[in-house]
Amino acid sequence: MFNRQTVIVTGAGRGIGASTALLFAQQGARVVVNDLDAALAAETAQLIADAGGQAIHFAGSVTDNELPDRLMQAAVDAFGQINVLVNNAGYTWDGMAHKITGKQWQAILDVHLTAPFRMIQAAAPYLRDAAKAELESGAPFSNRCIVNVSSTSGLHGNIGQANYAAAKLGVVGLTKTVAKEWGALGIRCNAVAFGFVDTRLTRPQEAQEEAIEIDGRQLMLGIPRKVRDLLDSDIGQRIPLARPAAVEEAAGGIVLIASPLASYITGHVLEVTGGMGI
Ligand SMILES: NC(=O)c1ccc[n+]([C@@H]2O[C@H](COP(=O)([O-])OP(=O)(O)OC[C@H]3O[C@@H](n4cnc5c(N)ncnc54)[C@H](O)[C@@H]3O)[C@@H](O)[C@H]2O)c1
Repeated sequence: MFNRQTVIVTGAGRGIGASTALLFAQQGARVVVNDLDAALAAETAQLIADAGGQAIHFAGSVTDNELPDRLMQAAVDAFGQINVLVNNAGYTWDGMAHKITGKQWQAILDVHLTAPFRMIQAAAPYLRDAAKAELESGAPFSNRCIVNVSSTSGLHGNIGQANYAAAKLGVVGLTKTVAKEWGALGIRCNAVAFGFVDTRLTRPQEAQEEAIEIDGRQLMLGIPRKVRDLLDSDIGQRIPLARPAAVEEAAGGIVLIASPLASYITGHVLEVTGGMGI
């Protein structure tokens, strides 16, 4: 479905992003793998190459002002064009609304909202100029789209996540606006909102030694065991499918909405939640 198409996935060193990069490659895409963690980004690209696909890795933080332009340039240098941009990179830094610090608020807004916006701006000339050229020559539009990763925390709010919820709903507004602004060029923009996907962001904090370094500070990732036990205890009531998603299932939602089969779907928020919240 993605033969000769170039797909950029941010935060693709592990978790949902890595699975998404692998699935796009299985569907024929040439993939640009970004992650904060250079070794993991290289590992995902190597897995794709080992399976006979094409990929490059490009390490760095999506919050770095210089990164979006450099990432787009690397994609075009390697593969000549850009078709799909997946804004997936991110992490959580939870706290109750009355206790969230300015730094904590800003860091989460930066990674989940400002970075996708800057990435979209950096991709604009490549996506839009190629589409304009097709329009002028009368050729049908190629598949071009953006997929922004959102969350049920954004759609419904979530205790302890005022910063994350604000950013994840903000990205929905960004998605719908770009869908309206770029639709005439055949460029689609959608969001995928996940609920509960089994990754280090949702595993019990105490059962893993997972941290992310932000400004020289180690932030522990995961959900406190007490909270996770509470979530597990009524999972059947909260989630019709009664289990968390595997990363492969989360990736399926992203690839589905990016695919040419979704050519008339734009401005949509696809909820990949096992039915949570219906
Ligand atoms: N796991 C869930 O249940 C869930 C639910 C809703 C939304 N999400 C969203 O899905 C996305 C992926 O999360 P995940 O669960 O796979 O987490 P993860 O921690 O397994 O993977 C996220 C990846 O993003 C990278 N990353 C973090 N900050 C970065 C930055 N500034 N620049 C580049 N890379 C960066 C990390 O190094 C990591 O490899 C995130 O946007 C997250 O908010 C996850």
